[in-house]
Amino acid sequence: PIIFAITPTYPRHVQKAELTRIANTFRQIPAFHWIVVEDTNNKTSLVTNFLKSSGIQHTQLCVKTPPAVTKARGTLQRNVGLSWLRETFQLTEAPSGVVYFADDDNTYSLKIFEEMRYTKKVSVWPVGFAGGLRYESLVLNDAGKVKQWRVRYDPSRPFAIDMAGFAVNLDVILEKRHAIFRLDVRPGYQESSLLQDLATMGELEPKADNCTKVLVWHTKTQNPNVSGDRNFTDRNVEV
Ligand code: UGA
Ligand code: MN
Repeated sequence: PIIFAITPTYPRHVQKAELTRIANTFRQIPAFHWIVVEDTNNKTSLVTNFLKSSGIQHTQLCVKTPPAVTKARGTLQRNVGLSWLRETFQLTEAPSGVVYFADDDNTYSLKIFEEMRYTKKVSVWPVGFAGGLRYESLVLNDAGKVKQWRVRYDPSRPFAIDMAGFAVNLDVILEKRHAIFRLDVRPGYQESSLLQDLATMGELEPKADNCTKVLVWHTKTQNPNVSGDRNFTDRNVEV
Protein backbone atom coordinates (compact mmCIF):
# COMPACT_ATOMS: atom_id res chain seq x y z
CA PRO A 1 0.00 0.00 0.00
CA ILE A 2 1.04 3.59 -0.71
CA ILE A 3 1.06 6.03 2.19
CA PHE A 4 -0.60 9.36 1.31
CA ALA A 5 0.48 11.92 3.88
CA ILE A 6 -1.51 15.17 3.90
CA THR A 7 0.50 18.06 5.36
CA PRO A 8 -0.99 21.52 5.90
CA THR A 9 1.70 24.21 5.96
CA TYR A 10 1.77 28.00 6.19
CA PRO A 11 4.36 30.73 5.60
CA ARG A 12 6.42 31.65 8.65
CA HIS A 13 10.11 31.94 9.53
CA VAL A 14 10.52 28.24 10.34
CA GLN A 15 8.48 26.87 7.44
CA LYS A 16 11.38 25.72 5.28
CA ALA A 17 13.23 24.35 8.29
CA GLU A 18 10.16 22.34 9.33
CA LEU A 19 9.60 21.03 5.81
CA THR A 20 13.28 20.12 5.57
CA ARG A 21 13.13 18.25 8.86
CA ILE A 22 10.11 16.14 7.96
CA ALA A 23 11.20 15.66 4.33
CA ASN A 24 14.37 14.06 5.68
CA THR A 25 12.11 11.54 7.38
CA PHE A 26 9.61 11.09 4.55
CA ARG A 27 12.35 10.60 1.93
CA GLN A 28 13.28 7.35 3.60
CA ILE A 29 9.81 5.85 3.40
CA PRO A 30 9.07 3.52 0.49
CA ALA A 31 5.79 3.93 -1.44
CA PHE A 32 5.12 7.36 -0.06
CA HIS A 33 3.18 10.21 -1.66
CA TRP A 34 3.32 13.60 0.05
CA ILE A 35 0.29 15.86 -0.38
CA VAL A 36 1.41 19.29 0.77
CA VAL A 37 -1.39 21.83 1.11
CA GLU A 38 -0.32 25.42 1.60
CA ASP A 39 -2.41 27.88 3.56
CA THR A 40 -2.03 30.52 0.82
CA ASN A 41 -4.07 31.83 -2.11
CA ASN A 42 -1.41 30.67 -4.55
CA LYS A 43 1.26 28.02 -4.46
CA THR A 44 4.52 29.60 -3.31
CA SER A 45 7.82 29.20 -5.09
CA LEU A 46 9.45 28.32 -1.78
CA VAL A 47 7.32 25.21 -1.42
CA THR A 48 7.33 24.38 -5.16
CA ASN A 49 11.12 24.49 -5.37
CA PHE A 50 11.50 22.72 -2.08
CA LEU A 51 9.29 19.83 -3.17
CA LYS A 52 10.97 19.55 -6.58
CA SER A 53 14.37 19.18 -4.99
CA SER A 54 13.12 16.90 -2.22
CA GLY A 55 13.19 13.71 -4.26
CA ILE A 56 9.83 12.79 -2.75
CA GLN A 57 6.79 11.92 -4.85
CA HIS A 58 4.40 14.75 -4.13
CA THR A 59 1.37 16.84 -4.96
CA GLN A 60 1.28 20.54 -4.13
CA LEU A 61 -2.07 22.17 -3.41
CA CYS A 62 -3.23 25.34 -1.70
CA VAL A 63 -6.21 26.93 -0.02
CA LYS A 64 -6.12 30.06 2.09
CA THR A 65 -7.91 29.95 5.43
CA PRO A 66 -10.22 32.97 5.48
CA PRO A 67 -9.45 35.49 8.26
CA ALA A 68 -12.84 34.76 9.86
CA VAL A 69 -11.72 31.19 10.56
CA THR A 70 -9.45 31.66 13.53
CA LYS A 71 -9.29 28.42 15.46
CA ALA A 72 -9.13 25.52 13.02
CA ARG A 73 -5.50 25.29 11.98
CA GLY A 74 -4.91 23.20 8.90
CA THR A 75 -8.53 22.09 8.63
CA LEU A 76 -9.39 23.48 5.20
CA GLN A 77 -6.02 22.30 3.94
CA ARG A 78 -6.65 18.72 5.08
CA ASN A 79 -10.07 18.81 3.39
CA VAL A 80 -8.48 19.95 0.13
CA GLY A 81 -6.13 16.99 0.43
CA LEU A 82 -9.11 14.67 0.88
CA SER A 83 -10.84 16.23 -2.15
CA TRP A 84 -7.74 15.67 -4.25
CA LEU A 85 -7.71 11.97 -3.32
CA ARG A 86 -11.42 11.66 -4.14
CA GLU A 87 -11.00 13.43 -7.48
CA THR A 88 -7.86 11.53 -8.41
CA PHE A 89 -8.88 7.97 -7.55
CA GLN A 90 -12.02 6.02 -8.46
CA LEU A 91 -12.92 3.52 -5.77
CA THR A 92 -12.80 0.61 -8.22
CA GLU A 93 -9.35 1.37 -9.60
CA ALA A 94 -7.62 3.05 -6.68
CA PRO A 95 -4.21 1.81 -5.60
CA SER A 96 -4.13 0.15 -2.22
CA GLY A 97 -3.32 2.99 0.14
CA VAL A 98 -3.53 4.61 3.54
CA VAL A 99 -4.10 8.25 4.39
CA TYR A 100 -2.30 10.04 7.24
CA PHE A 101 -2.56 13.64 8.42
CA ALA A 102 1.02 14.73 9.04
CA ASP A 103 1.33 18.25 10.48
CA ASP A 104 4.56 19.96 9.47
CA ASP A 105 5.84 20.48 13.02
CA ASN A 106 5.47 16.99 14.49
CA THR A 107 8.27 14.45 14.79
CA TYR A 108 7.82 11.11 13.05
CA SER A 109 9.70 7.86 13.53
CA LEU A 110 10.12 5.74 10.41
CA LYS A 111 8.44 2.89 12.28
CA ILE A 112 5.07 4.60 12.52
CA PHE A 113 4.73 4.49 8.74
CA GLU A 114 5.22 0.74 8.62
CA GLU A 115 2.71 0.37 11.47
CA MET A 116 0.05 2.33 9.57
CA ARG A 117 0.73 0.86 6.13
CA TYR A 118 -1.54 -2.17 6.56
CA THR A 119 -4.52 -0.31 7.96
CA LYS A 120 -7.78 -2.09 7.06
CA LYS A 121 -10.12 0.70 8.11
CA VAL A 122 -8.72 3.06 10.73
CA SER A 123 -5.59 2.36 12.77
CA VAL A 124 -4.60 4.14 15.98
CA TRP A 125 -1.57 4.54 18.26
CA PRO A 126 -0.20 6.74 21.08
CA VAL A 127 1.05 10.29 20.46
CA GLY A 128 3.83 11.83 22.54
CA PHE A 129 3.27 15.25 24.17
CA ALA A 130 -0.40 15.46 23.20
CA GLY A 131 -3.18 16.77 25.43
CA GLY A 132 -0.99 17.92 28.31
CA LEU A 133 0.49 14.46 28.92
CA ARG A 134 3.79 12.73 28.27
CA TYR A 135 1.71 10.82 25.78
CA GLU A 136 -1.94 10.24 24.99
CA SER A 137 -2.91 6.64 24.40
CA LEU A 138 -5.74 4.14 24.19
CA VAL A 139 -7.01 1.49 26.59
CA LEU A 140 -7.41 -1.95 25.04
CA ASN A 141 -9.58 -4.82 26.26
CA ASP A 142 -8.35 -8.41 26.62
CA ALA A 143 -9.21 -9.06 22.99
CA GLY A 144 -6.91 -6.22 21.99
CA LYS A 145 -9.68 -3.87 20.88
CA VAL A 146 -9.93 -0.20 21.87
CA LYS A 147 -12.32 0.22 24.79
CA GLN A 148 -11.43 3.70 26.06
CA TRP A 149 -9.28 6.78 25.45
CA ARG A 150 -6.36 7.20 27.83
CA VAL A 151 -6.44 11.01 27.81
CA ARG A 152 -6.98 13.82 30.31
CA TYR A 153 -8.33 16.39 27.86
CA ASP A 154 -12.07 15.84 27.36
CA PRO A 155 -12.31 12.02 27.33
CA SER A 156 -15.99 12.31 26.37
CA ARG A 157 -15.08 13.21 22.82
CA PRO A 158 -16.34 10.58 20.32
CA PHE A 159 -12.71 10.07 19.23
CA ALA A 160 -10.34 11.51 21.81
CA ILE A 161 -7.24 11.14 19.67
CA ASP A 162 -4.75 13.58 18.17
CA MET A 163 -4.48 14.12 14.43
CA ALA A 164 -1.09 12.37 14.48
CA GLY A 165 -2.53 9.27 16.15
CA PHE A 166 -4.52 7.61 13.38
CA ALA A 167 -4.50 6.62 9.71
CA VAL A 168 -7.33 5.67 7.36
CA ASN A 169 -7.45 3.16 4.52
CA LEU A 170 -7.75 4.96 1.18
CA ASP A 171 -10.82 2.89 0.18
CA VAL A 172 -12.62 4.15 3.28
CA ILE A 173 -11.84 7.75 2.29
CA LEU A 174 -13.13 7.05 -1.23
CA GLU A 175 -16.25 5.18 -0.04
CA LYS A 176 -17.31 7.74 2.54
CA ARG A 177 -17.10 10.62 0.14
CA HIS A 178 -18.79 13.12 2.41
CA ALA A 179 -16.60 12.64 5.47
CA ILE A 180 -14.54 15.80 6.07
CA PHE A 181 -13.06 17.82 8.90
CA ARG A 182 -15.66 20.28 10.14
CA LEU A 183 -14.90 23.90 10.88
CA ASP A 184 -17.86 24.41 13.20
CA VAL A 185 -16.67 22.19 16.05
CA ARG A 186 -15.30 22.89 19.51
CA PRO A 187 -11.52 22.69 20.10
CA GLY A 188 -10.40 19.08 20.19
CA TYR A 189 -13.30 17.82 18.08
CA GLN A 190 -11.62 18.06 14.65
CA GLU A 191 -10.51 14.45 14.67
CA SER A 192 -13.93 13.26 15.87
CA SER A 193 -15.70 15.23 13.15
CA LEU A 194 -13.96 13.12 10.51
CA LEU A 195 -13.63 9.81 12.33
CA GLN A 196 -17.24 9.47 13.46
CA ASP A 197 -18.21 9.14 9.80
CA LEU A 198 -15.53 6.52 9.11
CA ALA A 199 -15.47 3.97 11.91
CA THR A 200 -16.67 2.96 15.36
CA MET A 201 -14.45 2.66 18.40
CA GLY A 202 -14.68 -1.11 18.21
CA GLU A 203 -13.39 -1.12 14.63
CA LEU A 204 -10.19 0.79 15.41
CA GLU A 205 -7.01 -1.19 14.80
CA PRO A 206 -4.43 -0.60 17.55
CA LYS A 207 -0.83 -0.41 16.33
CA ALA A 208 2.57 0.20 17.95
CA ASP A 209 2.65 -3.03 19.99
CA ASN A 210 -0.91 -2.74 21.27
CA CYS A 211 -0.43 0.98 21.83
CA THR A 212 2.52 0.51 24.17
CA LYS A 213 5.07 2.41 22.03
CA VAL A 214 5.33 6.12 21.27
CA LEU A 215 6.42 6.49 17.64
CA VAL A 216 5.22 10.02 16.87
CA TRP A 217 5.52 13.21 18.89
CA HIS A 218 3.37 16.34 18.90
CA THR A 219 6.35 18.66 18.98
CA LYS A 220 6.26 22.44 18.55
CA THR A 221 9.12 24.50 17.19
CA GLN A 222 9.88 27.72 19.01
CA ASN A 223 9.68 30.91 16.97
CA PRO A 224 13.25 32.05 16.27
CA ASN A 225 14.35 35.47 17.42
CA VAL A 226 15.00 37.53 14.31
CA SER A 227 14.34 40.86 15.98
CA GLY A 228 17.85 42.07 15.22
CA ASP A 229 17.41 41.56 11.49
CA ARG A 230 15.00 44.15 10.12
CA ASN A 231 16.60 44.65 6.71
CA PHE A 232 20.11 43.64 7.74
CA THR A 233 20.14 40.42 5.71
CA ASP A 234 19.68 39.97 1.97
CA ARG A 235 15.93 39.62 1.21
CA ASN A 236 16.81 37.57 -1.88
CA VAL A 237 18.20 34.80 0.26
CA GLU A 238 15.53 32.22 1.04
CA VAL A 239 15.62 31.00 4.64
C1 UGA B 1 -3.19 20.72 17.15
C2 UGA B 1 -3.43 19.41 16.41
O1 UGA B 1 -2.30 18.57 16.50
C3 UGA B 1 -3.70 19.76 14.95
O2 UGA B 1 -3.81 18.60 14.20
C4 UGA B 1 -4.96 20.60 14.89
O3 UGA B 1 -5.23 20.97 13.58
C5 UGA B 1 -4.72 21.87 15.67
O4 UGA B 1 -4.34 21.56 17.02
C6 UGA B 1 -5.96 22.73 15.71
O5 UGA B 1 -7.02 22.30 15.29
O6 UGA B 1 -5.89 23.86 16.18
P1 UGA B 1 -1.16 22.48 16.89
O7 UGA B 1 0.20 21.98 17.09
O8 UGA B 1 -1.80 23.28 17.98
O9 UGA B 1 -2.09 21.24 16.51
O10 UGA B 1 -1.35 23.27 15.51
P2 UGA B 1 -0.25 23.65 14.42
O11 UGA B 1 0.85 22.66 14.41
O12 UGA B 1 0.07 25.08 14.59
O13 UGA B 1 -1.11 23.52 13.09
C7 UGA B 1 -1.53 22.26 12.58
C8 UGA B 1 -1.15 22.19 11.09
O14 UGA B 1 -1.83 23.22 10.38
C9 UGA B 1 0.34 22.37 10.81
O15 UGA B 1 0.74 21.50 9.78
C10 UGA B 1 0.45 23.82 10.37
O16 UGA B 1 1.50 24.06 9.45
C11 UGA B 1 -0.90 24.04 9.71
N1 UGA B 1 -1.38 25.44 9.82
C12 UGA B 1 -1.34 26.10 11.01
C13 UGA B 1 -1.88 26.09 8.71
O17 UGA B 1 -1.92 25.51 7.61
N2 UGA B 1 -2.31 27.39 8.82
C14 UGA B 1 -2.25 28.08 10.00
O18 UGA B 1 -2.65 29.26 10.05
C15 UGA B 1 -1.75 27.41 11.12
MN1 MN C 1 1.60 21.35 15.77
